[in-house]
Amino acid sequence: MRVTFYGHACFKVELNNKSIVFDPFIRGNELANNIEVADIKPDYLLLSHAHSDHIADAVEIAKQSNASAYAVYELCMWLNKKGISNFHPMNIGGTAHSENICFTMTPAIHSSSFEDGSYGGVAGGFVVQNETNCFYYAGDTALFSDMSLISSKRELDFAFLPIGDNFTMGVTDAIESAKLLGVNKIIGMHYDTFGYIKINHQEAINQFKTEGIELILLEIGQTIEI
Ligand code: NI
Ligand code: MN
Repeated sequence: MRVTFYGHACFKVELNNKSIVFDPFIRGNELANNIEVADIKPDYLLLSHAHSDHIADAVEIAKQSNASAYAVYELCMWLNKKGISNFHPMNIGGTAHSENICFTMTPAIHSSSFEDGSYGGVAGGFVVQNETNCFYYAGDTALFSDMSLISSKRELDFAFLPIGDNFTMGVTDAIESAKLLGVNKIIGMHYDTFGYIKINHQEAINQFKTEGIELILLEIGQTIEI
């Protein structure tokens, strides 16, 4: 798999010959002004919840790519109102299959509303799996013990976890999450973008390392093989 970081909680994951983009928030993120929204044309667009730091560029990317958008029902209805017709509504606990990939929607302990305050459905995360790869994208969440159920049925290669604290779990709880998930490789997200979530990178990496877990913090625009 190949992972590209677009800032905040937005990543592109390429597996086999398909690309998946999560939670696009690029134009509104001053740290991500090296990223060109017009260049982002995934096959799949996965949205974890309705907060604007997760969907700000979703409509534009869905329109220019005709990506299939997977999200909770209420978020899909919002996309529909914005003129997007290629969407796949889901809810927590459900798995959707497309070609040889499956997307399972997992719980997240968080809120979810649109910018105008209207209801955005529940917040979630995703497990993405094909015959060779499997990873977990937690979305915005607190630590919850049922993360152990996510790894009880499958072996995860790695996980995207929020580490910025304040709006989501921070480093200490993310380490606990990694243990519940049985993964020793974490890609950090949801840090540094706003004042409330600025973190010390080296300290975070060291804290994970002490527990035998690799924390990967990507530069915005960086691509790695994982
Ligand atoms: Ni949020
Ligand atoms: Mn957020």
